[in-house]
Amino acid sequence: MQRALTGVQPSGQIHLGNYLGAIQPALNLQKQHDTFYFIADYHALTSVQDPTLLRQSGIEIAATFLALGLDVEGSATLFKQSSVPEVCELAWILACCTSAGTLDKGHAVKAARDGGREINAGTVFYPVLMSADILLYGSNIVPVGRDQQQHVEIARDLATRVNHRFGEGTLVVPTVQVQKEVGLVSGTDGRKMSKSYGNTLPLWLPAKKLRKQVMRIVTDSRTVEEPKDPDTCNVMKLYKLFGSTEQIADLRGQYIAGGMGYGVAKQALYEAIDERLEAPRARYEELISLPVRVEEVLQAGAERARQAAKVTMTRVREATGLG
Ligand code: ADP
Ligand code: TRP
Repeated sequence: MQRALTGVQPSGQIHLGNYLGAIQPALNLQKQHDTFYFIADYHALTSVQDPTLLRQSGIEIAATFLALGLDVEGSATLFKQSSVPEVCELAWILACCTSAGTLDKGHAVKAARDGGREINAGTVFYPVLMSADILLYGSNIVPVGRDQQQHVEIARDLATRVNHRFGEGTLVVPTVQVQKEVGLVSGTDGRKMSKSYGNTLPLWLPAKKLRKQVMRIVTDSRTVEEPKDPDTCNVMKLYKLFGSTEQIADLRGQYIAGGMGYGVAKQALYEAIDERLEAPRARYEELISLPVRVEEVLQAGAERARQAAKVTMTRVREATGLG
């Protein structure tokens, strides 16, 4: 069975973009694959340097996976990245096979630069550590959002380079799987939904607060009577991801006909999101109120991940002359 692996950074509240672009597609793989999911806390340390926040956010992500149906009794393994410190050793070995220029062009560096944040060396090193995550567990498939594709390409290049230099079969060359249908989920202001833009709809907001946030989605100033453009409207962009085919067609019709205010469209969007999230939200709230169960799952996952890591590191140490 092929191994699929993906990681999520514990760096704040999970939003609908993370859910649709990363978590749901990752969960969809668990039926046909041996799946590894991890909480990328080493990565998060590049931007989150508050221990309470880092810890809490990690638990929240683990509870999110479980609430959305992660099958830890079956083929799925859930763990914290930092529970397997060998990943840092592999990252070092990979760094020695990476040209420094590649890292300076990295997506994470660019994002930090654009956001005016200080660029620490961890941020520059980010794609190497991410490559180590992928290669340490012999992953075959890496499902990610489009913005992470570049990082997985770097992991592919590095695996190929290591194999070329130290022997074929030293590392498994992974394949990236970009969630095509969803692409980028837009936020309340129409830009890509992102923590850094403050335009998110958090996944686990209580129903009332969720409705409030949906009502804040930016629309143009057309009056109720005027026909509206379903192809550019921020409400419709999200509705397409949550409504059924008939519901979407129906709302589109109302946009084009006119006589419908944006408030009506927003209410429809709120209801569609709430319908999808109501049951998992209840499971999430239960898990978060009793995190012992979540901790147990993470412990068991770490054990399995360490076993897999050991196998790769024995081979890599041998091949490189470190063993
Ligand atoms: P943020 O931009 O809010 O900081 P992250 O960079 O932590 O989000 O993204 C975590 C995962 O969620 C990544 O795999 C990313 O591709 C996916 N993701 C984030 N935002 C979106 C979005 N707006 N649409 C689709 N996928 C997204
Ligand atoms: N960089 C990813 C993100 O921000 C998280 C991540 C870390 C990851 N290591 C990974 C994703 C390995 C896939 C595979 O979303």
